Amino acid sequence: MKVTAHTGAAWKKRADTVAIGVYQSAKKKAPCPDHLQELDRALGKKLWTFAVDDGFTADSGQTFVLHTHKKIPVKRVVLIGMGEPDDVTLDDFRKLGGGAVHSCPGNKAVLVLPPHDEISATSAVELAAEGALLAGYRFNKYLSDDDDDTRTAQVSIVSPDLSAGAVRKACEHAGAIAAGVNLARDLINDHASSVTPEMFAATARQTGSEVGLTVKVLTEKDLEKEGMGLMLAVGRAAAAAHPPRMVRLAYRPKKKAKRHIALVGKGVTFDSGGLDIKPAAGMLEMKIDMSGAAAVIGTMRAIGALAPEDIAVTGYLGCVENGISAFAYHPGDVLKSRKGTTVEVNNTDAEGRLVLADCIDYALDKDQPDTLIDLATLTGACMIALGPFTSGLFTADDDLASDLILAGERSGEDFWRMPLNQALRYQLKSQIADTKNTGERWGGAITAALFLEQFIDDRARWAHLDIAGPATMDREHPYIPRGGAGFAVRTLVSYLTAGH
Ligand code: BES
Ligand code: MN
Ligand code: ZN
Repeated sequence: MKVTAHTGAAWKKRADTVAIGVYQSAKKKAPCPDHLQELDRALGKKLWTFAVDDGFTADSGQTFVLHTHKKIPVKRVVLIGMGEPDDVTLDDFRKLGGGAVHSCPGNKAVLVLPPHDEISATSAVELAAEGALLAGYRFNKYLSDDDDDTRTAQVSIVSPDLSAGAVRKACEHAGAIAAGVNLARDLINDHASSVTPEMFAATARQTGSEVGLTVKVLTEKDLEKEGMGLMLAVGRAAAAAHPPRMVRLAYRPKKKAKRHIALVGKGVTFDSGGLDIKPAAGMLEMKIDMSGAAAVIGTMRAIGALAPEDIAVTGYLGCVENGISAFAYHPGDVLKSRKGTTVEVNNTDAEGRLVLADCIDYALDKDQPDTLIDLATLTGACMIALGPFTSGLFTADDDLASDLILAGERSGEDFWRMPLNQALRYQLKSQIADTKNTGERWGGAITAALFLEQFIDDRARWAHLDIAGPATMDREHPYIPRGGAGFAVRTLVSYLTAGH
């Protein structure tokens, strides 16, 4: 799907639908809003009267549809209610963009944005374009008959206060971000026999060449040379068919960077649980266990395209399948990490933290970033704690916590700070090794974070995002189709480009 700028009167364009955002008025008998008047006149002053007669009050989410019966070139007009202007948030403009896509059964839509006192016209276009591009996403790779006729192929955006050039620029910005999110979604939605660690590496190479990132791939041999015993153990059972890969993607600005941020993503392409095998129902969705790595590659794609001036960003993908075979690592095995410490495996299904630990150590050792953020579908416990839409955020750094939470708010993604409760450290004590990989049942998301903290070892500011819940969407959302959500890409891009 494409998003473009449109100049001139919206309804003079040959389009299937013109969608218009409308605010609710405090007055009882609301007069026709200014940005609707020209269109209302073109329709013989019937549009607003019909809408009001039909009970349209511009309440948030309410819509009114009018067929124009060839009075104007556009076939139908859809008014999309946005509620009262004081209550309108940034995310409502994304939802408006999504609404334009969902309310247009034809091919081409025009979207008219209502002016807002606090949200700039440029932001409004960026947000609406982003919402439209995200809502228009579809994973149709395996559909033999994908009926394309009823899908919106193009949304032309009209902003009464902006030049076409300014709208076009805002659409390009949104396009860079949405392409990153949708790349992550494609990887999450595809299955584990297709999205293997090698395929991840090939996708990273392709992405790197498209947007100008340096890409390096470490093969199993390289991982051995690096002494990454934790990651190798997780991947050993499946390695003959799907050998592990660690991928490094680097973005460097033209001038000297002021800060260097590393992103590390869990890329478990399938999580069977290993010898501590998962029950069938739990295993069924485990192709999504690479959503952290998908978010990292998606973010790197967007950052490469946006090319921010003063930050360096390095992304790592820890790609490995947690399989089952005679070569599988065992419950009870003691492994040696890249950092040099030993880990007693008391559950082979707590594999994500093992993969991340070695990748984190590599990142800190080789790239020495100021800040490291890891992302992972790490624990079911985090979903129990926060529900399906909220990511856990673990960090000892108050500034980093608030920067990420605010970036999340700007992006319409929800993060909740969880305690890095040191009182639970005892749960990871092992009698025979430096640490165990799992603690007890209660506080499972916290002990997973505490496990990772041992590998950070105060070498950088650090935040851990447990995205097990919001990585996928299991119901309709205004701009997130069911399946892989591409969660955290937008927040990370916002955080990285905010300039703090
Ligand atoms: N990938 C899972 C976590 C997960 C569960 C993500 C459900 C998304 C949806 C992870 O590797 C795992 O198996 N975690 C275990 C940890 C336990 C063995 C300590 C869990 O959450 O049960
Ligand atoms: Mn697991
Ligand atoms: Zn897992």
